[in-house]
Amino acid sequence: MSEPRKIILDCDPGHDDAVAMMLALANPAIELLGITTVGGNQTLDKITRNAQSVLVACGRDDVPVYAGAARPLVRRVEIAADIHGDSGLDGVELPEPTRPSEQAHAVRFIIDTVLAAEHGTITLVATGPLTNLALAARLEPRIVERVREVVVMGGGYHEGNWTPVAEFNIWVDPEAAHIVFDEAWPLTMVGLDLTHQALATPEVEEQVRAIDSPLGEFFLGLMAFFRQAYREHQGFIDPPVHDACTIAYLIDPAIVATQKVPLSVELRGELTVGMTVADFRSPAAEDCRHQVATTLDHAAFWALVVEAIRMLSQQDTRSQED
Ligand code: BDR
Ligand code: CA
Repeated sequence: MSEPRKIILDCDPGHDDAVAMMLALANPAIELLGITTVGGNQTLDKITRNAQSVLVACGRDDVPVYAGAARPLVRRVEIAADIHGDSGLDGVELPEPTRPSEQAHAVRFIIDTVLAAEHGTITLVATGPLTNLALAARLEPRIVERVREVVVMGGGYHEGNWTPVAEFNIWVDPEAAHIVFDEAWPLTMVGLDLTHQALATPEVEEQVRAIDSPLGEFFLGLMAFFRQAYREHQGFIDPPVHDACTIAYLIDPAIVATQKVPLSVELRGELTVGMTVADFRSPAAEDCRHQVATTLDHAAFWALVVEAIRMLSQQDTRSQED
């Protein structure tokens, strides 16, 4: 088996961020070096605590959590309380964190980790607004050529959710997204076109229910709230578990088909701020650094998530027996 992919997960948990964490913690193809947090779905304090609580629920408080930017580079804070609730993770009882978050700032951790690691070995995965990544690239430009790949849940080439054409993570901090998309690192955009295929159906939930574990119940509680929110506010029947698709893509690229295409982030349009513009007019050049995720293997994706919950549940039972 090849070496696990070393990642930093920059997130704003968030129901689907929590599922991304589960996948990253459990799958042997991934080595999760740390969690960095960014104000997005809820305020920074709340989502940092949520990240810590999810680690406790997963029995994995060995993973460090670094708090990052509390607000976008230029614009006002915008949260998604309609979708994620007052806590940012409504629908479950959140366990008390068992270890404090780290002293160092998230941006410092990202920079230090990338500089200390072998060239081309660290992948940055972002499932919230791109403020931390933009700050890191500006503060220490040497990280840009050293990072293996940046994988972003955000944007869409034909779809929006926060506005008709803009996705939430990009819309919250479009200036940061512009910086991150414009840098010279390879960037994969796992946007709404892909993540709207990652629906947590009743059949998926049945498989998790069959695991019959506290973590399985935690997942089901999260999905129950998320489903209701997506029904009321986005017209979905089942909720799309966006953020976990980034990790699935890294575990097995066959699950997430991609296509190379140049991307830009719109900053000034009257109706289009935060839109990710993909230029499909002609085949992308050989050296195109951008690709977009296009098609999800739904069954294979959920098999990974279900297996992750099973694995973490078993580890938790074993550690309680010790
Ligand atoms: C993205 O926005 C957030 O609400 C989710 O956690 C996800 O990262 C989807 O637009
Ligand atoms: Ca998120």
